[in-house]
Amino acid sequence: MAVVVITGSQWGDEGKGKLAHYLGAGFDLTVRFQGGSNAGHTVKTGGETFKFNLLPSAILHRDHQCLMADGMVVNPARLIGEIRCLQDKGLWGDNLLIGSRAHLVMPYHILQDELHEKSLGDHSIGTTKQGIGPCYADKFARTGIQVGDLLNPKTLRQRLEDVVPHKNALLRNVYGYDGELSVDALYGQLMEQAEVIAPLVVSSVKTVRSLLDSGANVLCEGAQGALLDIDYGTYPFVTSSHTVTAGACLGTGIAPCEITRTIGVSKAYTTRVGNGAFPSEQAGLVCEHMRERGLEYGTTTGRPRRCGWLDLVLLKYALRLNGCTELALTKIDVLDGLETVKAVVAYQKNGERIETSEVSDAELAGYSPVYAEFPGWPGPSRAARSEAEFAPELTAFVDFVEQQVGVPVTILSVGPDHDETVERSHRS
Ligand code: GDP
Ligand code: IMO
Ligand code: MG
Repeated sequence: MAVVVITGSQWGDEGKGKLAHYLGAGFDLTVRFQGGSNAGHTVKTGGETFKFNLLPSAILHRDHQCLMADGMVVNPARLIGEIRCLQDKGLWGDNLLIGSRAHLVMPYHILQDELHEKSLGDHSIGTTKQGIGPCYADKFARTGIQVGDLLNPKTLRQRLEDVVPHKNALLRNVYGYDGELSVDALYGQLMEQAEVIAPLVVSSVKTVRSLLDSGANVLCEGAQGALLDIDYGTYPFVTSSHTVTAGACLGTGIAPCEITRTIGVSKAYTTRVGNGAFPSEQAGLVCEHMRERGLEYGTTTGRPRRCGWLDLVLLKYALRLNGCTELALTKIDVLDGLETVKAVVAYQKNGERIETSEVSDAELAGYSPVYAEFPGWPGPSRAARSEAEFAPELTAFVDFVEQQVGVPVTILSVGPDHDETVERSHRS
């Protein structure tokens, strides 16, 4: 039995989807445990590119089970869209289960997210407008609607009758929205969606438990990243779920002591979408190089991602918080061709050197980064299939990262494709 957790160690988009698909074939079950369609996970395999918002990225391994577990928030229309897309390509393996306690993202959550962001003007979070924050808020206010409610039309109708009048009042009176949501229309829409979704609904806890008890191997695929965690990220510029390893336990019912390996994923540089502090952010040529070579445009929203150097202070924070036993370093090829490569090793404020930091948005905004500099390498790294094929300067950079963060770098991603991956034997 093994439980392996993949977690983002930055502000998301580290390449978790590629890794979950790459490793997924060796597991019996892959689980998404938090977040919703704010996630955009890319898998490139067999000459095709897939972008998953809700489906676990190992869904393409058709002999393998996937679960969208209780900690997720699920937009049913988007989920059906993703299922249909695979069906149309003849790639649907009927290998998806959905936890009954996951919450439904309703049309009013999306409206609330959009209107609230608009009302904040320059102070907006920069959300993906997928209704994530309002849906999790309703979950904790105990006014949410769960996936399992789709199996019980009477309960579903009652939940809508209880909630929708409040939502209409909120949308009208706080945000000046001039539409009106109707219980009948929402109920009708959900009952139609239930035809596809209801047959997939299970108890997450029972499903995972019985697999683990039979000795199965489970892979948990995190969404977003540690620095976007609701409690431990750069609040308020965060998402509304627990993106850290502990979130895998909360979202699936797996006990903390059952986790056997935690793989942190980090790019060889840093990106962020949305607002908030970003000490190593770059403008000009370096940012352009990273954005154009790394295709740094949001998978869900298409927004250009902010780009900057790898921040080892933040990476160490994320790896500790997640109890990572190893690190996967991705998008190394994107740095090919730069004369100099940099990484943050400390911050400076009022002449004082700061080596570790709490991740508070206000604190980070006041720091100047202190960089270590490395000679660049020409590339192309994408062709490498073993570490021996790396330029010596690249190997030196990876060794430095490993030595700084204190966990072995076991996987190096040198391109978006499944095959563009180098597994690294640990030397020390
Ligand atoms: P996720 O949200 O963590 O799954 O990451 P995304 O899919 O949002 O963003 C990662 C992007 O980088 C996607 O377009 C991937 O296809 C791509 N990608 C992943 N690994 C590599 C890599 O090693 N090199 C390059 N050039 N692209 C990569
Ligand atoms: P994956 O799983 C990058 C960011 C948004 C915004 C903040 C809050 O693909 O790595 P939300 O819509 O969650 O309320 O937005 O979080 N964000 C992400 N950034 N990758 C993601 O997911 C993200 N999901 C949310 O840009 O700053
Ligand atoms: Mg993404």
